[in-house]
This record gives sequence, structure tokens and C-alpha cells, in this order.
Amino acid sequence: MRIGIVQTSPAFGDTEGNLERVRALIRLTKADLWVLPELFATGYQFASREEVVSFAQPVPGGRTTQALVDLAQELDSTLVAGLAERAGERLYNSAVLVGPSGFVTCYRKAHLFFEEKRWFSAGDTPFPVVRVGPANVGILVCFDHLFPEAARTLALRGADVIAHPANLVIPEIGQLTMRVRAIENGVFTATANRVGIEARTGETLRFTGRSQIVSPRGEVLARSPIEGEDVRAAEIDLEAARDKSLNPYNDRLADRRPELYAL
Ligand code: ACM
Repeated sequence: MRIGIVQTSPAFGDTEGNLERVRALIRLTKADLWVLPELFATGYQFASREEVVSFAQPVPGGRTTQALVDLAQELDSTLVAGLAERAGERLYNSAVLVGPSGFVTCYRKAHLFFEEKRWFSAGDTPFPVVRVGPANVGILVCFDHLFPEAARTLALRGADVIAHPANLVIPEIGQLTMRVRAIENGVFTATANRVGIEARTGETLRFTGRSQIVSPRGEVLARSPIEGEDVRAAEIDLEAARDKSLNPYNDRLADRRPELYAL
């Protein structure tokens, strides 16, 4: 199986232009599963709730989800991408997984970062694991990386691969924690981060690039530069994510001691 990451520099509010950049980059190489950044079509730094409302869309049914389905059909592959979701009065920082047969699932970011808490509701969807061809694919969004329980839940639910749309702003931290999440859970992780700067609210956010695909041993199989748009893919062997043993005595999941973890 081949997984790919797309690193973009979204222009705030230019949803059609941002989609077009993704289409151009993604056509450069082939993958069965693609991961795009968090909020890839709108940009990240909203200045008001009204602004989020003007961009957020129902899922499924919104234009961005449909554009992703069209692209999945053209490529005959699966895409995981972050977008702003509107569900009644609520707004979520979500990620959709779509394939050639259409919309499959939506995950609403559980751990909101910084000013996201002003506009978005914290996610209420369980951490999803869905079948994509031979692989079990779980989803996290950006700051979820800092909460080991999130990735662990996906691993316990059988994820082989964690798709991780991101807009990381603290240099190297998310890239480091996702390598640890890969090692401790014995899963592949695919982080699609963005690049560029947004300074729309008085806070300057510099997005840190270095999108990456990591093996269950923590090896970086593909890494994008710190700046600039980029697309990368890596071949993965799912067997490496299904054997959780470290040696004849230790197994990353079977050796857990949940009875000692209760507070
Ligand atoms: C983040 O969660 N976008 C840092």
C-alpha cells in the first residue's frame, strides 16, 4: 500500500484556489491513501465566529467534501482532509475521509488548540478507524498529537495507519510526538502539515512544514521541507503495524497494565 502527504500553503479564504493547488500537487505522484492538511481549503486563522460560519459547510453535502469525492474518483484513491464543518448551530474543526465510492466518515477534532476554542466546539465523535483497501485507517487532527490517549485509542481499535491532517505551529514538537505515537503504538503515521504565515488577529502564526510519514519503528519514511509546498509518498507494509512485539517477551499492546492506570 502507498500513502501520500500533501503539504500546502493555503491562501486564507481562497477555497477554490486552495483546492486547485491540491489537485495540481496530488496529480504529481500516486498513492492509495492521501492525507491533506487541517483546514486545507479555508486557511486556519479565523478572526470571528461569523467568518467561520461563512466558510463552514455541512458534512457530507458541502462543496469541499464533494470536491474531495470528485478528486478521489479521478485518482481512484482515498483522501483524508481537514475542513470547517457546520452542524446546525455548532462549528467543528473536522477531517473527512472520502473514497471513490463517496463520503465515508467525519472526525471532529477532540482537542482544540488556542483560539480554535473561540469558534469551534470540541469534537464529539469517537476516534474513528475505517477500512481502506487492506488497511485500517484512524484519524487525528493536529493538536490531538499531544494527547497519547487519542492515538492509543485508535491503536486499540485496530488502526494500522493514523492519518493526521495538521497546521502545526510549534517547531518540531508535533513531528516528534507523532514519531513517538508511531513507536509506542506500532502504527504508521502520516502527518500532512501546512507552511506559510497567517497574521489576521494580532497573533502571528508560522506553520512548520516538515510533513512526514513514519513507520511503526519510528523511522521517517518521507519528510517534506520546512518551507514550500510539497508532495511525498511511501510504500508501507501493513504487517509491520500488525505485529506489536518488540522481542520474544514484549508486546506493545499486550503488555499494557490498564488496572494500574485507573486514577
Ligand atoms: C493545531 O492544532 N492546529 C496546532
